[in-house]
Amino acid sequence: MIPPGFIQDLLARVDIVDVVGRYVQLKKGGQNFLGLCPFHSEKSASFTVSPSKQFFHCFGCGAHGTAIGFLIEHRGLGFVEAVRELAQQTGMEVPVDAAAAQATGRVQALTETLQRATDFYRQRLKSSQAAIAYLKGRGLTGATAVRFALGFSPDEWKALAAGFESYDDRRLVEAGLVIENEGKRYDRFRGRVMFPIRNRRGAVIGFGARSLDGSEPKYLNSPETPVFHKGRELYGLFEAQEAIRRKRRVIVCEGYLDVIQLAQAGIAETVAALGTAVTAQHVAELLRLADHVIFAFDGDVAGRKAARRALEAALPVLSDTKQIDFVLLPDGEDPDSLVRAHGPQAMVTEISRALPLSRWFVQSLSEGRDLNTAEGRAALLAESKPLVAVMPAGALRLQLLRELADVARSAPAEVEALFGLKPWRRLPNAPQRENRRQAVEIADLKQHILQRLLAVPDLAAEFVPAIADEFIASEAPIDRQIVEVCRTAGAHRGLTSGALQELLAESDFAEQYRDTAARELQTESDISVARIELGAAFAKLELRRLNDELHELATQAQPSGELLDRIRLLSERRSRLMAGATAGNNDATVGLGKRA
Ligand code: UTP
Ligand code: MN
Repeated sequence: MIPPGFIQDLLARVDIVDVVGRYVQLKKGGQNFLGLCPFHSEKSASFTVSPSKQFFHCFGCGAHGTAIGFLIEHRGLGFVEAVRELAQQTGMEVPVDAAAAQATGRVQALTETLQRATDFYRQRLKSSQAAIAYLKGRGLTGATAVRFALGFSPDEWKALAAGFESYDDRRLVEAGLVIENEGKRYDRFRGRVMFPIRNRRGAVIGFGARSLDGSEPKYLNSPETPVFHKGRELYGLFEAQEAIRRKRRVIVCEGYLDVIQLAQAGIAETVAALGTAVTAQHVAELLRLADHVIFAFDGDVAGRKAARRALEAALPVLSDTKQIDFVLLPDGEDPDSLVRAHGPQAMVTEISRALPLSRWFVQSLSEGRDLNTAEGRAALLAESKPLVAVMPAGALRLQLLRELADVARSAPAEVEALFGLKPWRRLPNAPQRENRRQAVEIADLKQHILQRLLAVPDLAAEFVPAIADEFIASEAPIDRQIVEVCRTAGAHRGLTSGALQELLAESDFAEQYRDTAARELQTESDISVARIELGAAFAKLELRRLNDELHELATQAQPSGELLDRIRLLSERRSRLMAGATAGNNDATVGLGKRA
């Protein structure tokens, strides 16, 4: 929508220290500025702002971003709004594109309509004795009703006519508030308690609506509209954001009332899917907000089914540094009824008994099977196979395979083979320990390269030629990261570390980049030192490649002239690199463009 070039220009003009400094008291500490993190409560300053790298990072809660990101997180602005605000402060004009402006206008019109309806329904709640009695009967306070902007839709066909200038306004239909049927129009929601659903920025995007008397359907939800996508949004996320950040975890339950009841009970880090199954998109979004996600499902058949769907949604987006737990509540209870009957402590106790995903996986798939028979165990493995197949390879998958193998009375390697998973990479012809040592060394070197490139983006252009085929052909995440960072940074001039991260915000690896960049916050990156270090690291990698190839060529049975030429070329290149290394002149880019 906004051309990326503009974002770079903008970030080059604003100083993040000024932007953050307007909201957070900052003190100079070394090369950085320090303050109390505005995103979580803390007593000693772990919130760091780097003037040279132009990004902030909190070592306490992990909050991280550029000046744009700060305004988004702290002020709850949208990306475009944040860019506009910064542009205004620096006297720059945001280029507008007509189609985009029209789309924005349409979205704005819809959210305005929905906000208007929210105000109307809230007004009507005040005058409905029945609705007030209902909410009181469910144990909710007035303050809670305000916090969640609860309302009431009168039991009339055209109640909304009193809230809008014209009942014929198309936007009422587009927003899903009014149904149009054979030329007739009438309110979708009648005689219901209204639960506004807000997006992360607090704009109302739809409603959930409960009948007072239990008439069917019990809950009615807004239809999908240009602003409302059930598979993506979560109920209560806006209201829960602050608590999620503070407690560094998020609880996902099934119902609107569960979210509200738990928030009232002080367990405010709670959200719910919108009457649909939890999707992988939901889980990925939640894992971005917190490292720990707890699913709490009702102890009934529907709850079990929902838990299974959530498990399936979580598997593809797992990572070894995140934790996903499952709680199945006692039969017939949901978080709302539990808290109402036994107080908040009962819910806290249930959460403390949560099972980690791997345990939950094995337990829920074992359910209803006789694992004392070969058939039962075989069926467990057969049902597990497609689920394990979507998990990213890593420590967690390994652990889960172990647990599964254990209950299936098999060896982990057998299960791995049965599932057709690639065994750990085995390098032939060399003792295992030596290989591992080398692999670790290479991994460290590459990590170091990535870290320096992220810290000093201006160097990237010089090293683009050093991105050898080894990196480009590789599927390994670290190689793909180096290629991506080097190419992105190499295509721009004068990027700060923060501006580079902004360019990479949509990357699959955005999170790794953030973490890696944060590790360099305490080191001021002198460009000439970084140049030498990068040169040395690339040279070492190349030397290793050359040695491998030479080793291989030397063992060929029939040395042809061509082969000897190649050996000579590689040997020369190797001597040059070695000489460079001993002379302390590690210029890996010399002659690399012409690499044979
Ligand atoms: P439940 O049937 O578990 O209801 O549905 P609940 O949340 O406990 O509701 P109360 O306590 O009786 O008020 C769980 C969720 O499934 C969706 C709603 O999001 C609900 O909160 N749902 C349920 C619907 O969308 N439509 C329905 O008819 C029923
Ligand atoms: Mn309930």
